Amino acid sequence: MNVFGVDIGGSGIKGAPVDLERGALTEERHKVLTPQPATPDGVAGRVAEVVEHFGWSGPIGVTFPGVVTGSTIRTAANVDKGWIGVDAARLIGERVGGLPVTVLNDADAAGLAEMTFGAGRGRTGTVIMLTLGTGIGSALFVDGRLVPNTELGHLELKGHDAEKRASAKAREDEELTWEHWATRRLQKYLAHVEMLFSPELFIIGGGVSRKADKFLPLIEDIRAEIVPAQLLNNAGIVGAAMAAASPEAGGRDRSAGS
Ligand code: BGC
Repeated sequence: MNVFGVDIGGSGIKGAPVDLERGALTEERHKVLTPQPATPDGVAGRVAEVVEHFGWSGPIGVTFPGVVTGSTIRTAANVDKGWIGVDAARLIGERVGGLPVTVLNDADAAGLAEMTFGAGRGRTGTVIMLTLGTGIGSALFVDGRLVPNTELGHLELKGHDAEKRASAKAREDEELTWEHWATRRLQKYLAHVEMLFSPELFIIGGGVSRKADKFLPLIEDIRAEIVPAQLLNNAGIVGAAMAAASPEAGGRDRSAGS
């Protein structure tokens, strides 16, 4: 079965049809820039452009970088605050000619994809995926089942919002060396999350996971196994499509017919 997946990020909106048997894109993905400011109308219009690029008609899964309950956006840490309270599935559904739309948190989507097709395949117990990018996203799995909207990026770390200290953006903005960021920021963050959840496995995603060899070997004193994500750039798109095919997997409802 093929379903369309769209990943809304702070700088780009990308999408492609996904083959759910293989967890792979069936065509090269199409990417457009995220409008600035990333308002609901602006972003919904760009999502529609991505969908139209493929002439797609069928179910669509969409990720969002904030808390999503049902299909309503509840937080918007790194996008326009105008999203809060918006029924994103309805808004985007209207722009794509009434096709059924499912919306879920971006890290939850990436986690679903990794648990089925990537680094978390076959793993039971407590698994936590963390996406290190502009912010920090989290996806918590217990025996393969997602607990949505965990928002572990906003834990407090030394009096700060953790993502402001330990995200990939924090490393770039503060021009930290890999070593400084890994040993003084990421390590402390992982220790804090481990203290709370004692996961068996951490999966580290986000663009920075491509450079995992620069920082994962430097992390010490964490009991859990720590591995880089495997789907890299496409985890969000694949996970969004999975949630659209099976909304209960992502704890979501569809805009139409439900
Ligand atoms: C948001 C999360 C999101 C993460 C990654 C955080 O600031 O609160 O919902 O998953 O960024 O985009």
